[in-house]
Amino acid sequence: EPATLLADVTITVTAGPTREPLDPVRFISNHSSGKMGYALAHAALMLGAKVNLISGPVNIEPPQGVNLVSVESAIQMRDAALKLAGSSDIFIGCAAVADYRVAQVAEQKIKKQGDEMTITMIKNPDIIAEVAGLTKNRPYTVGFAAETQNVEQYAKGKLKNKNLDMICANDVSNQALGFNSNNNALTLFWHDDSVELGIADKQALAMNVLLEIAKRLDF
Ligand code: C5P
Repeated sequence: EPATLLADVTITVTAGPTREPLDPVRFISNHSSGKMGYALAHAALMLGAKVNLISGPVNIEPPQGVNLVSVESAIQMRDAALKLAGSSDIFIGCAAVADYRVAQVAEQKIKKQGDEMTITMIKNPDIIAEVAGLTKNRPYTVGFAAETQNVEQYAKGKLKNKNLDMICANDVSNQALGFNSNNNALTLFWHDDSVELGIADKQALAMNVLLEIAKRLDF
């Protein structure tokens, strides 16, 4: 691939899980490995882009040359995303952002209590929807949708409701693919088009996702 296809293009990618704290020693999180987001960041660098990688806690080395912004919670990820979105040409939301956070984070370690305990959680902001909603310097905004059924219907719903330009959908009911796997299969949806990317390793898929985005950008 030409290393200049995305020269002069700034891409911001979110990757990995978020951690939602309960108290100073505990959090709620998910199994996102960050592999797909890091693969996208790597592929963007290969194509000559300037890359911001906003990452939750993962066990992957950041690709050389990336501007890594390490965050933990969804609120921290949102703040970093909004800081960088306006100066980005492309924003790709690949992070598995926790839908809810703990309403009252305890300042001290929560002590063991009775046989039951209740935690009240409140909705986190939808980071990619906020980026796609920017009225000034809005980047080309690309989301991901992990679905276990009705993949096309749910992915297209998110494309529309979040006001995205493109969404990459994957069927996570297939145990061999998705989350922690090195392989994946994606269907890309735009408002008026779709493309199937068959099973491949995440690095190859990431490159194809970026080539599809590049085709649709006007420089
Ligand atoms: O609605 P759902 O979580 O399935 O949407 C997934 C897409 O939205 C992904 O691109 C994900 O990174 C993004 N997202 C986000 N902020 C949230 C929830 C999801 O940016 N709070």
